[in-house]
Amino acid sequence: MGIRSAAVLVFFATCIFATVSASKCACRSLPCGPSNYTFYLHNTVYNPAVDNADNFTSVYGLPPNVTWPNPFSFGVTSTFEDPITVGPARDSQQIGVANGFWQIDSKQSFTLFHVFTANITEGEYKGIINIIGQLRESDPVRYMTVVGGTGDFLGARGLASCVLVVIDRTPPATWTLSFDLDLYY
Ligand SMILES: *[C@@H]1O[C@H](CO)[C@@H](O)[C@H](O)[C@H]1NC(C)=O
Ligand SMILES: *[C@@H]1O[C@H](CO)[C@@H](O)[C@H](O)[C@H]1NC(C)=O
Ligand SMILES: *[C@@H]1O[C@H](CO)[C@@H](O)[C@H](O)[C@H]1NC(C)=O
Ligand SMILES: *[C@@H]1O[C@H](CO)[C@@H](O)[C@H](O)[C@H]1NC(C)=O
Repeated sequence: MGIRSAAVLVFFATCIFATVSASKCACRSLPCGPSNYTFYLHNTVYNPAVDNADNFTSVYGLPPNVTWPNPFSFGVTSTFEDPITVGPARDSQQIGVANGFWQIDSKQSFTLFHVFTANITEGEYKGIINIIGQLRESDPVRYMTVVGGTGDFLGARGLASCVLVVIDRTPPATWTLSFDLDLYY
């Protein structure tokens, strides 16, 4: 075999190897978790005036003192560890916990950068769902994205449609958000 045919052989061998490797990658698949999943998240703001140190689920972080008007609280953050339930009622069965934060990141409107993990520990499906998005308070439905997950939600991507179910602004201020997820694996 001459140098030329050896080179051709190496070339084809490389192609075959590349094809096999590529098809191996394409064959990797994930077990499918649920294609839709709904949960409710309940928040209670910490407020020393009402002495709710026992049952608050979130704290505010304030921006530094500013010398310009700040009607939309630009720079305010809220860090939360909220119970997640199966139903909209606060006393419905708890299935997990949401850990995360939001930060007001617009000077023009109440717009929040919102990011959290939903750690689901009870029910048919268990695992963590990672959710992220920009959320305008004036929108009746706030669309966020599912960017990943673990456990039964491994590899999950998709849409998280968030709705404010109820809000009570009287101190300490409480609210409930619903999350309807459309998931792809
Ligand atoms: C998904 O939707 C189907 C049909 O609407 C429903 O029967 C099922 O309970 C839902 N699953 C979850 C996990 O919400
Ligand atoms: C939290 O605790 C306060 C003070 O004990 C109580 O009045 C309030 O109802 C509790 N709120 C929730 C959501 O459990
Ligand atoms: C912010 O400004 C207020 C009013 O001028 C002042 O009382 C307060 O100490 C300031 N806070 C900080 C963290 O500088
Ligand atoms: C999810 O919740 C379970 C039960 O509380 C806990 O053991 C686990 O460490 C949590 N996972 C994360 C990543 O927080």
